[in-house]
Amino acid sequence: MRAARKRNPPVVVITGASSGIGRATAHRHARRGARLVLASRSASALEVVAEECRAAGGEALVVPTDVTDEAAVQALAATAVAAFGRIDVWG
Ligand SMILES: NC(=O)c1ccc[n+]([C@@H]2O[C@H](COP(=O)([O-])OP(=O)(O)OC[C@H]3O[C@@H](n4cnc5c(N)ncnc54)[C@H](OP(=O)(O)O)[C@@H]3O)[C@@H](O)[C@H]2O)c1
Repeated sequence: MRAARKRNPPVVVITGASSGIGRATAHRHARRGARLVLASRSASALEVVAEECRAAGGEALVVPTDVTDEAAVQALAATAVAAFGRIDVWG
């Protein structure tokens, strides 16, 4: 099970990833090697979290997104699938 996870890490989209609960959630998934798609409005804050996630063992893609904008949320999903082929967790 662990070997399978290592070969094929889950793809996790996290909104509100730049601080608080979202950032902590990103760190937790990163420590388990996840492929993370990090979203919030602030690109610069997300880049900091992405570096933290890479240092912890995950892959991280930053997608600045305002979740009040439906088209932006659709684009977030499309970007995640284009980068990693699927979405396993959306949080
Ligand atoms: N029920 C409970 O016991 C409990 C406990 C703690 C927290 N909460 C709730 O959980 C939520 C998160 O708490 P937190 O402490 O993690 O808050 P926080 O540190 O303020 O984080 C909020 C996150 O949401 C992002 N965000 C805000 N508006 C956004 C928008 N329009 N589009 C995209 N991203 C947006 C912010 O990034 P940007 O500014 O870069 O967009 C940030 O990453 C809050 O609603 C809080 O009230 C509930």
